[in-house]
Amino acid sequence: MEKITVIVKSMSLQGDGNIEVVFKAKDKVTLPSWEAGAHIDVYLTPMLIRQYSLVGSPSDEQHYTICVKRDKSSRGGSQFIHDTLRVGHELTISLPRNHFQLAPSDEYCLVAGGIGITPILTMAEYLEQSQKKFKLFYYVKTIEQVAFSERLKRDFQYGTIEIIETVQGKGIRNTFPNALKQPQKESQMYLCGPQAFMDVCIEKSIQHGWSNEKIFFEAFAPVKTNIAVSSDDGFQVRLSSTREVFDVPNDKTIATVLIENNINVPISCEIGMCGACLTQVVCGEVDHQDTVQSDEEKQADEQYIALCCSRAKSAVLEINL
Ligand code: FES
Repeated sequence: MEKITVIVKSMSLQGDGNIEVVFKAKDKVTLPSWEAGAHIDVYLTPMLIRQYSLVGSPSDEQHYTICVKRDKSSRGGSQFIHDTLRVGHELTISLPRNHFQLAPSDEYCLVAGGIGITPILTMAEYLEQSQKKFKLFYYVKTIEQVAFSERLKRDFQYGTIEIIETVQGKGIRNTFPNALKQPQKESQMYLCGPQAFMDVCIEKSIQHGWSNEKIFFEAFAPVKTNIAVSSDDGFQVRLSSTREVFDVPNDKTIATVLIENNINVPISCEIGMCGACLTQVVCGEVDHQDTVQSDEEKQADEQYIALCCSRAKSAVLEINL
């Protein structure tokens, strides 16, 4: 996987508990282009790789910007960024990838929970620039936690922004926006935030007539964090290039088994949310555990498996490696 070396150019607070980090390319090269919804892998240390949505301007070829909330249940990424990373540090990042692109539509509903505002804000700015109608709902615990308040305050001609505080039990379950209660035929919803927030938003949306196909979301945390011990009895994985066969026991992932056998597997998040390890399936039945692929992709004729977390329902799974 191609990587880029960047330097931390600046760090600043974006509302209580959020830190904005601006990277510039080392050696004054320009950075690859990206579109709203894209994210990068940030190699904080060789063993600590995290995914963050880009939230700067896609037209800025000199800089990438991310924003990270201090997360008390952090698995290390947000803690490292808040406590250790400093201006001038050099880091490796991946090229931008986008599993959360805007599809063509006449009207967009954008819903953010907390730091989930990062891809949602870039979408709003893109839609404004493209003269497309949108409504943005941004849920925060308290108004002090609002990130990018200056950018949100600009005079949008094509969209509206509503910030909803969730203190005193006013979570999305009780404050589901009226504007989302009567979905138009052409409306699409783009949703980003903590998993529990998105679960409620999707549940309420479906109750109010939204169809699954019109709701697009990006998980900030994995739905399942680990496949420590799977309930299956293990299976075999076969490589189509060499016909080698490896046993995958119930306490190891396919990626772990392959790496132990010196097979090069491109892994990053290791929790099924970045797509780095997606590999084409030649035959066999997949037990999908990732959150990076849509339900449609998981049911498509051409199947891809996330080697870091997904498993097999069949005794043997042949993959294109
Ligand atoms: S390494 Fe990220 S999905 Fe597998």
